[in-house]
Amino acid sequence: MEPNQAQTGLPEPTDARVLTAAAFYRRPMLAAYDLFVLGMMSRFMWRCPRGRMLAHYDRQVGASHLDIGPGTGWFLDRCNFPVESPNITLLDLNEVALGTATHRIRRYRPEARVGDAFKPFALRSARFDSVGMNFLLHCLPGAMEQKSVVFDHVMPFLRPGARVFGSTVLGDGPHHTQRSTKLLAKLNRSGVFNNLDDRLEDLNEQLHARFTAVETVRSGAVCLFSARFPGPR
Ligand SMILES: C[S@@+](CC[C@H](N)C(=O)[O-])C[C@H]1O[C@@H](n2cnc3c(N)ncnc32)[C@H](O)[C@@H]1O
Repeated sequence: MEPNQAQTGLPEPTDARVLTAAAFYRRPMLAAYDLFVLGMMSRFMWRCPRGRMLAHYDRQVGASHLDIGPGTGWFLDRCNFPVESPNITLLDLNEVALGTATHRIRRYRPEARVGDAFKPFALRSARFDSVGMNFLLHCLPGAMEQKSVVFDHVMPFLRPGARVFGSTVLGDGPHHTQRSTKLLAKLNRSGVFNNLDDRLEDLNEQLHARFTAVETVRSGAVCLFSARFPGPR
């Protein structure tokens, strides 16, 4: 049974909350995103430099890749795909972000789909070797059990042995500094982040319930995760 607000103490992932979190990524924000969010905030606030997340992409990304919440497409533009012409599908609830990422990696001729992590995906017969969701989970409202529905939604589209990976800023806890705790609270008040209760152990449990070869590693206040869909690669 899904946890409700009375059980978790967290606001439910209503459509309005889901939209608020995605709508934040408007053009001016996206223009500043690579430098401000990935270059500075990741490094100095969350203490996980973007190079570390890029190395995570390099290790996990496959020849046929789905990216959920690609933002500006910085990671997809820079990561090393295992083939020259990867098959890439981008899925984002925010059409401006989707357009930005699609344009940025147009050399790969990506497919773009508007879609919500909380709803089943309309990707027809597509099958992927990897699914990336970098800095997505901390945006999604609800308890870890509720936001993990995104893992269920990718399952029908995974090839045996496919990798599911990403990173997410963790909720309140000793891994945060005084400064990052304050910023975290502010971002949660505005509905841009929804992660005050996000714990590495809970993410680990949700991944183990669905996948094999689960790895969760903490860098500062960020959890980098990867898992494998059962079956040979
Ligand atoms: C913090 S940005 C991360 C961008 C990029 N992955 C990165 O790591 O730089 C979050 C992205 O997730 C998208 N997003 C937020 N909520 C979503 C949802 N419910 N379904 C799909 N995409 C969502 C946003 O529009 C945005 O593109």
